[in-house]
Amino acid sequence: MIALSAADPGKSSIDTLVIPVCEDKDLHRGPVADLVQEVRRVHAFSGETGERLTRGQPERGNIRCAVFIGVGKAGDLDAEAWRKFAGRAVGEGMARKLKGVHMAVPWSEATGMAEAELIAALAEGACLGNHVFDRYKAEKKRQPLEKITLLTGRGAVRAHKRLVERVETVCAGTRMAREWVSTPSNDKVPEAFAAAVAAAAKGAGLKTTVLDEKALRRKGFGALLAVAAGSDHPPALAVLEHKPRGAKKTVVLVGKGVTFDSGGINLKPAGSQIEEMKMDMAGAAAVAAALITVARLNPLVHVVGVLPLVENMPSGRATRPGDIIKSFAGKTVEIGNTDAEGRLILIDALAWAVEQYKPDAVLDLATLTGACVVALGEKIAGLFSADDDLAEAVLAAAARTGERCWRLPLPEDYKEQIKSEFADISNMGATRWGGAITAALFLSAFVEKARWAHIDIAGPAYSKKASDYAPAGGTGFGVRLLLDLLERI
Ligand code: BES
Ligand code: MN
Ligand code: ZN
Repeated sequence: MIALSAADPGKSSIDTLVIPVCEDKDLHRGPVADLVQEVRRVHAFSGETGERLTRGQPERGNIRCAVFIGVGKAGDLDAEAWRKFAGRAVGEGMARKLKGVHMAVPWSEATGMAEAELIAALAEGACLGNHVFDRYKAEKKRQPLEKITLLTGRGAVRAHKRLVERVETVCAGTRMAREWVSTPSNDKVPEAFAAAVAAAAKGAGLKTTVLDEKALRRKGFGALLAVAAGSDHPPALAVLEHKPRGAKKTVVLVGKGVTFDSGGINLKPAGSQIEEMKMDMAGAAAVAAALITVARLNPLVHVVGVLPLVENMPSGRATRPGDIIKSFAGKTVEIGNTDAEGRLILIDALAWAVEQYKPDAVLDLATLTGACVVALGEKIAGLFSADDDLAEAVLAAAARTGERCWRLPLPEDYKEQIKSEFADISNMGATRWGGAITAALFLSAFVEKARWAHIDIAGPAYSKKASDYAPAGGTGFGVRLLLDLLERI
């Protein structure tokens, strides 16, 4: 829980106060400024990023323990820097097995940021950092803090209470997505994951339906079923709907939900991160968590989340390389490679959703290609859209939430790559170059009538290592971005 407090650190008793210290600027006033002066003078604390110092029982005030954390140069302080600081502050509290920490909020004028923006970033970093995924461990080494208090002025406490509540709701969504992604594939086969999502969605008040294999066959989801064919666990399509009275716009969100991607008959070799492929449903997790959070925030937009859920496995019943299948849209697809399965489940989900809801905009999130990770690395997602306004809106949301996206092109002439000799289209590029682009172009052939953007999150959806405000595993990438976007659309 995150609280704002105007307690005077010079008077009230505080157990642990975490204080950000900048290299070239004084961020604080009053008794906290005095503590910083002293630590600079006595301990030569410079404020470099990552620098850390703990002082027990400083003379001033009733603070049992003050922890100073360097945040670098004033010119580099942005929302992301404050999220990282707050995440580190909470991590420090968890490492010391505390029940809670206080954080000294800097004087916003010294940070060059609006007070609301500063407090939101601190609350966000703290809330996201206060997360431990230890469901599968007997020994719980780290416990999340029970209470995090942001110490600020009286006016700020009154002005930003609601803002902090909103941040907490959004972060709960991100943490929910992370947990689903980190859950191993044996505990989230398609039907089980659909049931877990449906339970959470119904609890939040969303209209929720799950189409089973029979329904998908009846409706002609041939591409999705081709991916599911090799698995003993049947596929599902979960649909979550937030439809407030008076909404003028409809937005459809589609998330790739491959609960495990072995590659199928084109089995992934050792060294291809096959053991991390439980994360291949991160798009679906982000969309589901975003919808559940939408239900709580209640924006005046009709939002539909569509989650195609399958397991991609090799077996005697698996789809073969070279097979030709008929997609929901009616186009036939030659399966050049069974490991290019994400685009197959997405085209059916996208085509069905566009037909069903006639949305003003469609977005899909997918851990779609290794090529996108090669291009942009593990922290930046690839954004594709033929619609400049939609692309700009996504980039603006991404810049605000710190979930970085970089726009990549959809060149018409590259469609040459996905021509098939025998079917209407191939799911595989003729060469291996530009794989993130050919995958996006493949999707585009099935959403020709809609305003559409595709976000390839193969890089940032999952992290082997913990970072300043996230444990190792699913990162929840996209949840905050989608919510920011939906509140402004
Ligand atoms: N799920 C993978 C993409 C992926 C790779 C996600 C690494 C996260 C980290 C996707 O289904 C896949 O296997 N893509 C292939 C496509 C190829 C066969 C055309 C790839 O990127 O190699
Ligand atoms: Mn694959
Ligand atoms: Zn995949």
